[in-house]
Amino acid sequence: MENLINKKILLVICGGIAAYKSLELIRIFKKNKCQVKTILTRGALEFITPLSVSSLSNEKVYTNLFDFKNEAEMDHISLSRWADLVLFAPVTANKIAQLSNGLAEDLATTIALASDKDIFLVPAMNVRMWENTITKTNIKKLVNSNYKIIGPDIGEMACGEYGSGKFSDPVKISNVLNDYFKSIQGNKKFKALVTAGPTREYIDPVRFITNRSSGKQGYAIAKELQKNGFQTTLISGPTNLVSPDGLKLVNVNSANEMYEKTIEHLPVDVAIFAAAVADFKMKEISNFKIKKENLSNLEIEKTKDILGHTSKHNSIRPKLVIGFAAETNNLNENSRKKLIEKNCDWVVANNVSNKEIGFDSDYNEIKIFNKNNQNIDNISFNTKEMIAKRLVEKISNELKANG
Ligand code: CTP
Repeated sequence: MENLINKKILLVICGGIAAYKSLELIRIFKKNKCQVKTILTRGALEFITPLSVSSLSNEKVYTNLFDFKNEAEMDHISLSRWADLVLFAPVTANKIAQLSNGLAEDLATTIALASDKDIFLVPAMNVRMWENTITKTNIKKLVNSNYKIIGPDIGEMACGEYGSGKFSDPVKISNVLNDYFKSIQGNKKFKALVTAGPTREYIDPVRFITNRSSGKQGYAIAKELQKNGFQTTLISGPTNLVSPDGLKLVNVNSANEMYEKTIEHLPVDVAIFAAAVADFKMKEISNFKIKKENLSNLEIEKTKDILGHTSKHNSIRPKLVIGFAAETNNLNENSRKKLIEKNCDWVVANNVSNKEIGFDSDYNEIKIFNKNNQNIDNISFNTKEMIAKRLVEKISNELKANG
């Protein structure tokens, strides 16, 4: 399990009879040179002691959200930032219900809510509790919010009943995490570039032409790429968004600036053109505020097509070029046409006629077409983060498959 070496795992142990099995998990992690910080929930303290956990992990064990001594050393936010991933093992039906409702009532749930890392859950409970519709609905909600579930296994339980709900084998859990880190490691050699947000085409010092793009989808994609190991550059038009950690952010205003900065940052392995670039700009930008009587005389010209130029350029063309098509009607036809005209490998088509999705919304609904005219993915109404996740997974698989 060489990909576990030097990884930082934040392990949350919840209250259940399987809590003792997490001690074996810590032993495996330590054997593979992971750093493990542990949180014990109130329930877990009934089953195992902080002393046994800290003896195995060689680290401080955290128990209480309002433990000021611990908070002074490492508060709950830094604890979640410290980790490479968060692992709840075991997680009970009660904790699953709290997580799926976004509660932040103890250190464990607060960290889950505050974390920007991937969160894995290893459920362990009685078969009826696991198969209960409410638990199933809660799990579905968590999976939709990007939680990853390991197990549960099928077998005889501590209560004597048989079925699904057993804590997964610690070796299996470690292997899943090892594969997770391996996939990220495999992406580290790839460079990615994302354009995002609107552009501003100035008319004079006080006026400009722009559009409704918030940049949220492009930022979510860049963030996900970075999180998955890609060396990521985000070329962004003006937005109100916070720069994602770790990536290279290049702020631009106009389409021409976006074009220049994009070319400057090529070559890359994959380029995703999520920006809503203005199609026209002023022939000349006035240095003085234009009087309104003269505004009707403005002359405009086309902006440079950043995507088109990149994808048709032989020497700097990325291996994978992905364009976006925001359409209000004839989504499939218009998007495929754009794919061909702009020489893309894939086009992400989104329907912006519905107010709840697309521009300025936190949600989106997309279809992906490839240059062989195949519809290679459809993602129905979901958060822009989840859409970014699916897209990045596809990009990673594609690049790995093609060397
Ligand atoms: N794009 C670009 N540079 C431009 C214009 C667009 O890189 N100057 C990219 C966008 O980032 C997006 C795709 O091209 O990936 C959108 O194509 P485009 O034909 O510009 O879309 P619309 O402007 O919506 O076109 P139309 O009005 O024809 O629907």
